[in-house]
Amino acid sequence: MKSCMVQGAKIVSTGSAIPSVKVSNEQMSSIVDTSDEWIFTRTGIKERRLLTAYGQSVTDLATKAALKAIKNISIDPSSIDLIILATSSPNDLFGSASKIQYQVGAVNAVAFDLTAACSGFVIGIVTAFQFISNGTYDNILVIGADVLSKWVDWSDRGTCILFGDAAGAVIIQSCNPNFNSILSFHLNTDGNYADYLSIAYKEQLNPHPILNLYQGSFKHISMNGKEVYKFAVSQVPLSIISCLNKIDMSIEDVDWLLLHQANERILMAVAEKLSISTHKIISNLSKYGNTSAASIPLALDEVVQLNKISRNDIIVIAGFGAGLTWGTIVLRW
Ligand code: ACO
Repeated sequence: MKSCMVQGAKIVSTGSAIPSVKVSNEQMSSIVDTSDEWIFTRTGIKERRLLTAYGQSVTDLATKAALKAIKNISIDPSSIDLIILATSSPNDLFGSASKIQYQVGAVNAVAFDLTAACSGFVIGIVTAFQFISNGTYDNILVIGADVLSKWVDWSDRGTCILFGDAAGAVIIQSCNPNFNSILSFHLNTDGNYADYLSIAYKEQLNPHPILNLYQGSFKHISMNGKEVYKFAVSQVPLSIISCLNKIDMSIEDVDWLLLHQANERILMAVAEKLSISTHKIISNLSKYGNTSAASIPLALDEVVQLNKISRNDIIVIAGFGAGLTWGTIVLRW
């Protein structure tokens, strides 16, 4: 990786945004047949935030998170070269990133959406890293944002209790290769199991009378929870070990483990497999549930704002989800 690196890359700022509407497990039990006890013991989730305001979309949350990241480092938005919006819930199938580019005033940035569900932010960071390390760009805004509340079947207790809405953003800047902070990454996809987790397109039964083509619309989230659980607990530790091995690091070198905030039981099972202390696990899903592409940058922003992370700390970040996709990044903060 180092041999072709013209520039190093480092995360210089973070920001996040959550909707104001809080929905507790007790409130969920008035919507579907469930209980706080069932949800909390199975998932670790206590409450989630939902974007309920009419006309609000993922773009609004993503823009707020991006503006916070921009403000935190006082960067001139016109110096941002690229905006990557990782989302699976855009409010325009042609992409939502360009609207954010306009709203944050990043007049010189190219902007595009990246769809990889809960792994989207990790793949977004790795994509940004390529553009920086080969010398193409210097300032990149990567946003992970999702409003899966718009795609959940609110009568399906197996899925609706899991998800929440949020956005998180980081600014990645070029630096001297000796100070590069993205030390290693490892990405995977296995489309054979795409049906385990999907928001599938459904064609109408009757085709267009003249053209004979079928149109349709998207369905709600469907998930095989048990298989997703098994996949995450088996593949994520392997990905992390492989990523650390590439740079001759071991679990003992890791200061923080930041996994996609899907489920507390997944976080604990992965930590146990890696024999890493639970004190090193970053977790905020009790407050927000599974916020898909937003979960990692939201949790990162929280620990950064709380000054929990020190300079030179080694952070292992791993995302996993629909696709199936999964990936790990090792960062030196
Ligand atoms: N409240 C009460 N009972 C429920 C609920 C609920 N919310 N949901 C399901 N149940 C019931 C089921 O109907 C079933 O009842 P039955 O035995 O009478 O049939 C029973 O609880 C067990 O259901 P399971 O689905 O087998 O429950 P499980 O123990 O597998 O837990 C869970 C479900 C929490 C979803 C678990 O499978 C899991 O964590 N999977 C991982 C899911 C995940 O993290 N997905 C996101 C991935 S990231 C992304 O890309 C979006």
